[in-house]
Amino acid sequence: FQPKVLAGRRVLITAGPTYEAIDPVRGITNLSSGKMGFALARAAAEAGARVTLVAGPVHLETPQGVTRLNVKSAQQMLDAVLPLAAAHDVFIATAAVADWRPAQLAEHKIKKDGSGQVPQIAMSENPDILATVAALPQPPLCVGFAAESQDVAHHARQKLQRKKVALVVGNIGPATFGQDNNALLLVDAQGDQPLPADGSRAPKLALARALVADIARRLPK
Ligand code: C5P
Repeated sequence: FQPKVLAGRRVLITAGPTYEAIDPVRGITNLSSGKMGFALARAAAEAGARVTLVAGPVHLETPQGVTRLNVKSAQQMLDAVLPLAAAHDVFIATAAVADWRPAQLAEHKIKKDGSGQVPQIAMSENPDILATVAALPQPPLCVGFAAESQDVAHHARQKLQRKKVALVVGNIGPATFGQDNNALLLVDAQGDQPLPADGSRAPKLALARALVADIARRLPK
């Protein structure tokens, strides 16, 4: 039994990797599976929320009752999120957004010409979707994620302050991309709190339900 702690609320979630095209057949992406974001979308819908999920390229089924928008690049993700954000009570950014994109998209496949010359791919910085939403005049409650290989608490706290969000959720322990179990660290202005509380690992759906309950408690009545 799941209490409807998000009844009447609207929740916007980004999930998965982004794909930054180099040419029509190549691009830069990462190993984000999208599982945590999809689990959160499911948990939020189960908790009674109206959920919009903006997903990068992933092979996952849309959770029941969730509205899904598919995007590829960081810019497309921002373009999908921005007009929706103000109408939502909560924004959860789980997407592993590429920090950079090729500055130019080649119109045709870049060919090897046999000369041994290697293409130089100039990069541009991508927009920070979470920080952009958090800087809106009346932002939703913003939750970020921190996928760090070391010193999670420190990096999560830095993100909390730099992106001006209410909560940053750190992944504790070894890389969790693609795995079903995880352990989290909740970092907010008050301090740090592991989830599960005993520091063990738990299935992503169980973590997502606990996180949804925690987020619900942070919303204005
Ligand atoms: O700065 P960093 O990428 O480590 O921050 C991670 C958090 O910020 C995640 O919640 C991620 O979804 C979000 N983010 C974003 N847009 C970016 C980069 C990160 O929304 N361009």
